Amino acid sequence: MLGARGGWQALRRCSSLPRAVRLRVREALGARQPVDEVKVQGWVRSVRSQKEVLFLHINDGSSLESLQVVADPSLENRDLTFGSAVEVQGKLVKSPHKRQNMELKAESIRVVGPCDTWSFPLKMKERHPLEYVRQFPHLRCRNNTLGSLLRIRSEATAAIHSFFQDNGYVHIHTPIITSNDCEGAGELFHIETSNETRESAEKAHFFNVPAFLTVSGQLHLEVMAGAFTHVFTFGPTFRAENSQSRRHLAEFYMVEAELTFTESLQDVMQVMEDLLKTATSTVLSQCPHDVELFHKYIAPAQKDRLEQMLKNKFVTISYSEAVEILKQASQTFTFKPEWGCDLQTEHEKYLVKHCGDVPVFVINYPYDLKPFYMRDNEDGPQHTVAAVDLLVPGIGELCGGSLREERLPFLESRLQRLGLADSYQWYLDLRKFGSAPHGGFGMGFERYLQYVLGVDNIKDVIPFPRFSHSCLL
Ligand code: 4AD
Ligand code: MG
Repeated sequence: MLGARGGWQALRRCSSLPRAVRLRVREALGARQPVDEVKVQGWVRSVRSQKEVLFLHINDGSSLESLQVVADPSLENRDLTFGSAVEVQGKLVKSPHKRQNMELKAESIRVVGPCDTWSFPLKMKERHPLEYVRQFPHLRCRNNTLGSLLRIRSEATAAIHSFFQDNGYVHIHTPIITSNDCEGAGELFHIETSNETRESAEKAHFFNVPAFLTVSGQLHLEVMAGAFTHVFTFGPTFRAENSQSRRHLAEFYMVEAELTFTESLQDVMQVMEDLLKTATSTVLSQCPHDVELFHKYIAPAQKDRLEQMLKNKFVTISYSEAVEILKQASQTFTFKPEWGCDLQTEHEKYLVKHCGDVPVFVINYPYDLKPFYMRDNEDGPQHTVAAVDLLVPGIGELCGGSLREERLPFLESRLQRLGLADSYQWYLDLRKFGSAPHGGFGMGFERYLQYVLGVDNIKDVIPFPRFSHSCLL
């Protein structure tokens, strides 16, 4: 019987084929019994020709491990090189080698697409550094590290969706083109038509109003939180931050959730903590070999950090306590810590270390630092809002959230002071018709992957290094 997940599906998929059963490499490696007449398609990762036998390793992206093919040297041809696309037919048999379960005894090898190994930038048996493969965004997915990353990214996406679905959240597709600047920071990409179309439309806005790529789906989720008590969204988000840092992208994915009938910031923080722990446990158990590659060769300390994170309750400190800790630090910071100023990455990383290298919630930020939608704590003289940032080791801010201002008079006067009351009439409506206390948060998906895998540069956890200097693919 075939072992790995999908074995029987593979048989069914191939039921129309006359004889050979098409197997993915992962299925072939996980098979529990020999199978006559199988077909495996993929790309050659290694070729080793000996007098009596020809060895190949074939990878098709379904697993980190490649399938060993054993063939008669007569099947060798000059197009059968590292990187070529091949189709191999033969018998799947138990392997005599200790380190692998099954191997494919080839009866035929067809080179579907040859590869010019001289000009191909990836080389057999070389462990290319991430900086090197970043130069080849159209080819780097054929490298082991990026292959593992993309499988983990896929599994993490599914784990996050499952977490919310299992907890009764409704998934909402929030718009990508919008007229609101949710965060009020002006880091917006403005959308316009190309010149020719604009001229024919007599220079009017295509949508009649200025339109932007979304910086956050939150306000649209809040609309939905007026009808569904638990909603989430997980989609592309855009920020025109002119930052070339190792944790900022112009286009990134954000997971956002909104919970209605929630009066306590602790409830929002509990969901953040549960999401982080559940998704991470799933990724670790579903992709052990792919994750091991990162934890062994790229970030040896990360495995322990994650184990600590999974075992322990996250720490909570207030913003005011955070500033005091920073002021008393022996370290000198580039940005002097001061009540009322934003926490910089250097501050966030220090706080995490100070609290024992575990995730830290920082709550209750200054009122004047945060966007209009955050709930006024009505305190003083240091006036704060019910905001929370989750800081994690090695990265700093991973999630940002808050209770939302559900009280019409508070929201109205804040929007008026900011000159935004007209454009946010629809948002004020939400507070006029059945307003209920609610809160939510957003988590940067790429930063999450950086954290789980210990990857230093955010450009190494995305499928394409979009709009980086070297590539506008
Ligand atoms: O803290 P932010 O700006 O919060 C919001 O946008 C809220 N409206 C979310 C909500 O409450 N629904 O962004 C949330 C997270 C950050 O903590 C960070 O992890 C990530 O999004 N993020 C970025 N990730 C990569 N590149 C960037 N330029 C990012 N900007 C924010
Ligand atoms: Mg933030």
